[in-house]
Amino acid sequence: MSDSDSLAAAWSQIEEFEVPPIEALFAAEPDRLDRLVTDAAGIRFDWSKTHLERDLLDAFEALASAADLEGKRRALFAGEVVNPSEGRAATHVAERGEGAGEDNRIAAMLRQRMRSLVDAIEAEAFGEVDAILHIGIGGSALGPALAVDALGRGGTKLELRTLANIDGEAMDEALIGLDPGTTLVVAVSKSFTTTETLANLESALEWLEGAGIEDPAAQVVAVTANPDKAIAFGIDETRILPFADSVGGRYSLWSSVGVSIALALGWDAYEAMLEGAAAMDRHFKLAPLAGNAPVIAAFSDLYYTQNRHAETRAVFAYDERLRLLVPYLQQLVMESNGKGVTANGEHLDRPTSAILWGGVGTDAQHAVFQLLHQGSHLVPVEFVAVIENEDSQDPRQHRQLLLNAFAQGAALMTGRDHDDPARAYPGDRPSATILLERLDAHSLGALIAFYEHRTFVEAALLGINPFDQFGVELGKEMARAIDDPEAREGFDTSTRALMEKAGL
Ligand code: F6P
Repeated sequence: MSDSDSLAAAWSQIEEFEVPPIEALFAAEPDRLDRLVTDAAGIRFDWSKTHLERDLLDAFEALASAADLEGKRRALFAGEVVNPSEGRAATHVAERGEGAGEDNRIAAMLRQRMRSLVDAIEAEAFGEVDAILHIGIGGSALGPALAVDALGRGGTKLELRTLANIDGEAMDEALIGLDPGTTLVVAVSKSFTTTETLANLESALEWLEGAGIEDPAAQVVAVTANPDKAIAFGIDETRILPFADSVGGRYSLWSSVGVSIALALGWDAYEAMLEGAAAMDRHFKLAPLAGNAPVIAAFSDLYYTQNRHAETRAVFAYDERLRLLVPYLQQLVMESNGKGVTANGEHLDRPTSAILWGGVGTDAQHAVFQLLHQGSHLVPVEFVAVIENEDSQDPRQHRQLLLNAFAQGAALMTGRDHDDPARAYPGDRPSATILLERLDAHSLGALIAFYEHRTFVEAALLGINPFDQFGVELGKEMARAIDDPEAREGFDTSTRALMEKAGL
């Protein structure tokens, strides 16, 4: 059988599955928890309240074999080209010391350079600094924003403000209370060509200049994989932190892009994040597929998109500190796997990534959970919760958070009969629970790496390249063209009418 035939056979075997209700699976499979609950890198991953039954798992393992998941995983860690459309490796694992020897060495060298700069800033080589204005968008902002919001609540070494959107309102908000004399601007752009970031950087330089700073550019650190562009912009080479082209934007918090995390939370915390991610890398690399947390989660994702036609999946963080997790994951998952062709350029005739959405529990229970329990859409739900939070204002509140997260998962699964259909809950709605012992730099690093590898597995089984993002280019090009009166003539009548109405 050819590779494509065995892949097609593995898929058709999966598609034929008629899985009984989840509660029936619990009754039929006494060892269900042994197979679907995994402890990895200090985090519990419970996928038992899904429809992954024993034979279905076997069928997915057969798919993994036909799709050469293990070969693809080996290629990822070996630093081979896994991003064929851009002819690159994806070396975020090397940033955690888990890639190939040479990639690990380069990453460690760049991290040393970053550390020297962090030390110099802390030693006031830049004068007194009490705040960072981190300018970047997408992957160049979401990671540092999530990490510092999650881990910096007890206080940070330096205040971190993130400016992403090209909107004066966002800039006004980011600058509230900042002293231009003691604010370090960290301009982050892998390409150093992103319109929003460069425009915001120009505005920040004007803000510094307007406050009487003699040499505003001397208060800027640039982080980029394209140092020549930063130099051309006017940033001194000594204040540029490079990173490898092979680190994708949405994986870049592990590279020099993490400098704002290290400045805000301290070097030790940043290293602990890297170590947590590395622990998850080792789990993903070494654990057999049947007990591999990112692999099982990806099997579940695929079952719901392919067999049950679920168009979305939802993540609810039952912890205020993780309120930025969903926006972070949206980029990671949807920019990686929101594709329509395979890595070989062939049209894919099956759904790819589900739309990821979600929010924070328990708030979301009072807004969107109605649809999850009784609506007509099947939405696999994921609860992310933390067992201990010594810093919680009142331990009774934290207890309530956990009780609610667990109760929701149980309610989705069991449902409830009622004579009045409006009051009945169909049940058999899948959910997974991710339970952290505590939220710290190590566990956050491991959690993010779990989601990275799960996204990679899903792509590997679908045969797509998760590491490019050509889908974002057309809109950028057209935003430039629409500003040109001649090119605008080529736009559709609706868009031209909108432009006219807005006086543009
Ligand atoms: O437009 C999408 C994107 O290219 C993301 O992939 C990236 O994280 C973001 O823009 C920012 O890009 P850059 O770091 O090059 O400014």
